[in-house]
Amino acid sequence: MSGHKTKALDGPFLLAFGTGSTWRKENQGALNNNLIEIVKDALQSGYRHLDTAELYNTENEVGEAIKRSGISPSDLYIIAKAFTTSNIRAAFDRTLRNLGVDYVDLYVLHHPYFAKSEEQLQAAWVEIEDIFDSGKVGSIGVSNFTKAHVETILKTARIKPAANQIELNPYLQRVELQQYHKDHGIQTFAFSPLSPIVRAKPGPLDDVLETIAQKHGVSTAVVLIRWALQQGIAVVTTSTQNERMKDHLLAQKVSLTEEEIALISEVGSEKHFRGRWNDIFAAEDRS
Ligand SMILES: NC(=O)c1ccc[n+]([C@@H]2O[C@H](COP(=O)([O-])OP(=O)(O)OC[C@H]3O[C@@H](n4cnc5c(N)ncnc54)[C@H](OP(=O)(O)O)[C@@H]3O)[C@@H](O)[C@H]2O)c1
Repeated sequence: MSGHKTKALDGPFLLAFGTGSTWRKENQGALNNNLIEIVKDALQSGYRHLDTAELYNTENEVGEAIKRSGISPSDLYIIAKAFTTSNIRAAFDRTLRNLGVDYVDLYVLHHPYFAKSEEQLQAAWVEIEDIFDSGKVGSIGVSNFTKAHVETILKTARIKPAANQIELNPYLQRVELQQYHKDHGIQTFAFSPLSPIVRAKPGPLDDVLETIAQKHGVSTAVVLIRWALQQGIAVVTTSTQNERMKDHLLAQKVSLTEEEIALISEVGSEKHFRGRWNDIFAAEDRS
């Protein structure tokens, strides 16, 4: 077993640049130069954390962008995700090859819903633990897990998940799950942080966000990202547009008041919006 070079998930690493979800790769076989340039732009803009996944089918482009950027992977924080749920080790090795790296900082199980039993989920976690033992990952975690899913793997886990990447924004605050993470030393990681301005408009936060953004001289996107960061939540956001990706980085510099954070949380809780897994969660389920 080789030594782990685990990097702390703090400072500039708390804000990740995402390489999936709304991205489109037209040709499955060839490298998409447009995607490569977007990731390279993000790195040149200052992102040092890349969120990747087998599912996104963009690992090769991310790998090429890292190469073209001239930045050493050892100066980056890289998340990769296993969508494959049996022989995860083979999927992990493919991911390393695609990314052109010999190490990722956080390797996570992309979602729990493949498992038809507790044993199946626990068995997948054993595979992830074995990958940790290989020394080729800094830490291991999960994504899209509810409290019940985390409880299931904790029953048998040798190594606790370091992070849970979940959909989270002021319209989906998941307060109980966040507290559970804190109690167990699990880092909460938010994806789709911009839903209130991108997917869930109109909403009660529209004016609140505009007012706070104007006061600080930043965009509403920055306010939303900062709302999470300032509460100790790591964030993954994305944009294909150079101006926006640069803008989002301002969330690391601006500081909201405690009252502003509380106001966003309070007004945000008046509305419920979930963009993913709506086939699994009941309409009013906020967990
Ligand atoms: N673990 C999981 O299951 C999971 C699920 C979903 C996502 N993710 C990760 O999280 C990343 C971000 O996910 P997301 O796309 O849902 O996050 P998001 O940051 O909430 O939304 C990004 C989208 O909003 C648009 N956008 C960005 N800035 C904007 C602005 N200032 N005003 C208006 N629109 C803006 C972008 O379009 P433009 O390109 O036009 O700017 C992009 O389509 C993904 O790339 C992926 O890495 C993980």
